[in-house]
Amino acid sequence: MKIEVSAPGKLVLLGEHAVVYNRPCLVSAVSKRLRLKMEKIKRKLFQIERSDKKGFVKTALKNFSDKYGLDFGVKIKTQNGFSLQYGLGSSAAVTVSVLKGLAELAKIKMDKRELFNLAYQTVLDVQGVGSGFDVAAAIYGGTIYFKTAGKVIKKITDFNLPIVVGYSGIKADTPTLVRRLAKEKRKHPQIIGKIFTEIEGLVKEGKEALLKKDWPKLGKLMDTNQKLLENLGVSTEKLQRMIGEARKAGAIGAKLSGAGGGDCMIALVDEKDRTDVEKATRKAGGEIVKLNFSAEGVKLE
Ligand code: MEV
Repeated sequence: MKIEVSAPGKLVLLGEHAVVYNRPCLVSAVSKRLRLKMEKIKRKLFQIERSDKKGFVKTALKNFSDKYGLDFGVKIKTQNGFSLQYGLGSSAAVTVSVLKGLAELAKIKMDKRELFNLAYQTVLDVQGVGSGFDVAAAIYGGTIYFKTAGKVIKKITDFNLPIVVGYSGIKADTPTLVRRLAKEKRKHPQIIGKIFTEIEGLVKEGKEALLKKDWPKLGKLMDTNQKLLENLGVSTEKLQRMIGEARKAGAIGAKLSGAGGGDCMIALVDEKDRTDVEKATRKAGGEIVKLNFSAEGVKLE
């Protein structure tokens, strides 16, 4: 039996970092997908073609087997040397795809929540930190209001968003940045805690703005979120240059998306200004990533 599974990448609209500390965030699944082929084989053996450097596939296999048992072997082939570029969440997408594929091959019914729990556990086993929002985006798709560790996973919209995405050319090291902020928070609990609470407030407002398609409001919230991320020390000169140029070219609001230290900028635009904002982003050294927001969650192809 052979199957193909795919799962979407993600971009955070508002609320990164604070979401690690019991605050909500808004995250959207994007149309760049990770695909993998899986084949059931008789010998109880796991063959992983292409690298699994960090061990997400191996750990997903182990966790699935511990929970449900596995009386067959699997051959897994991932597309594109395994990575969604641009820091769009390949680890979560791979983990979710492998678990979904195993459930299908083993003919086990796993609902979205069970899949989330097992995939989130796998991500924590491998990298030790993370809120799980990327796992939720890969499973549920759409644009989601998410609270730490999946306490709330609520799909709020499934329409595309008028956003320009620019890649800074630098791959962010999320676990290192999360650990750095944890250290900062231990040193200055009040200051960092206050910033996280401000971020929580703007995520809640952002949810309403998004539902009403109130772009001026959402843009302002993105700008404020960016300021707060700068205060947390996770933005970079390059990201700031891209954000500044995008705003000058007419973006309604712009911010980094994800852990910071690199990865992508997102700029909310009026469609009439898209080309100008893209040009300005390129001029600032960014690479435009063409994708749609609110993509479908994990599925069998
Ligand atoms: C990274 O894309 C977003 C963080 O909030 C980490 C996480 O939520 O797992 C920094």
